[in-house]
Amino acid sequence: MTGPTRILTVFGTRPEAIKLFPLVHALEADPRFVSRVCASGQHRDMLDQVLEIAGLSPDHDLDVMLPDQTLDMLTARLLTGLGKVMDEEQPDWVVVQGDTATAMCGALAAYYRKIPVAHVEAGLRSGNIHHPWPEEVNRKVIGSFAALHFAPTETAAAALLRENVAPETVHVTGNTVIDALRWITRRIGEQPELAEGLAGLEARFAGKRIVGVTSHRRENFGGGLEAIAEAIRRLAARDDLALIFPVHPNPNVRKVMEGALSGLPNVALLEPLDYPHFARLLDICCLMLTDSGGVQEEAPALGKPVLVMRETTERPEGVEAGTARLVGTDADRIVAEAIRLLDDPAAYAAMARAHNPFGDGHSAQRICDLLAINSAK
Ligand code: UD1
Ligand code: UDP
Repeated sequence: MTGPTRILTVFGTRPEAIKLFPLVHALEADPRFVSRVCASGQHRDMLDQVLEIAGLSPDHDLDVMLPDQTLDMLTARLLTGLGKVMDEEQPDWVVVQGDTATAMCGALAAYYRKIPVAHVEAGLRSGNIHHPWPEEVNRKVIGSFAALHFAPTETAAAALLRENVAPETVHVTGNTVIDALRWITRRIGEQPELAEGLAGLEARFAGKRIVGVTSHRRENFGGGLEAIAEAIRRLAARDDLALIFPVHPNPNVRKVMEGALSGLPNVALLEPLDYPHFARLLDICCLMLTDSGGVQEEAPALGKPVLVMRETTERPEGVEAGTARLVGTDADRIVAEAIRLLDDPAAYAAMARAHNPFGDGHSAQRICDLLAINSAK
């Protein structure tokens, strides 16, 4: 290739934007590349929160979010919309991240145009196509034809090799979420006011131990979410605990959580927090209860124990390192595991140790260099 390499980075949800902003920053600063960004707008308010703090202005925004949109509708609109952008931009590479509908459709639209795909956070596998759903299949689809696979860990790289992905296309880079977490921590250090919005809650809950909660997985809709809400309700009956829960705006999540938990004195149901405030929550909590992917990576980096409210995880590294524990979505089990940790200082100390199995904070630069090397071939 002659001249700078044209990279089109595609993302649409909060976690993709968090995990790709360090790469977009690095691409923008690197004369080897022309960086273009397409936001699908699969998320709206939650995406805009990240764009703002990261200072990103996408070149395209497809604004595809509709309330409670079906997966078919979302997929169809993403595929046609992203294809049009690729026809206009004619990139040398399309970069996608993770396993969302935007990532899968971005990769597929590129494949239909014979544009090589670089997959960030490649190789995560739970081994179960229904947990997480539909993410396990989305990432397998991308992995089946990506030209470059940026695996966050050796475990993820090994999963790709087991699927007969060409070894020379697989690179262990670490996860860019650690780059993002370091970046935001630095920003908060420089400008503490970015994360001061929880001060009122912190005062209200003074003397209590804070438990952070997030939950949004589609496979938990219905019974799973109800059980999670019940577990939170029971934990909130303890005087020494306060649960801070930024609720995902998906109506399927909202109605369950608001129905079960509104008005409880030890529970704060919040709107989604922007990234600096979520980093603050990670900082002040003693424990996270979550079904999120990204939170399973960030909490260990900060030495915060995580109880993962899922049946499987594609991120075994946190469990192996001892900071994460898989507890499923049974209310009795969640409560028992949380209380065991909170009431047994030795069990707590064994989990509350900072580990960084997911990266060293330099993943974005590694990915840039690999894109440059592979473009020069
Ligand atoms: C999506 C991803 C999931 C990822 C999650 C991160 C897919 C299929 N799912 O799930 O892999 O873990 O994002 O959060 O790609 N909504 C708003 N405002 C927002 C965002 C969402 O109101 O800013 C509501 C809308 O009603 C929307 C619904 O949430 O239709 C669902 O959003 P969607 O992107 O389809 O799925 P998520 O459950 O967010
Ligand atoms: N996050 C955030 N505000 C919140 C909840 C989460 O900024 O109120 C961040 C969190 O730090 C992590 C990411 O969002 O980086 C995880 O997103 P989510 O749980 O929506 O998706 P997943 O990681 O499960 O795909």
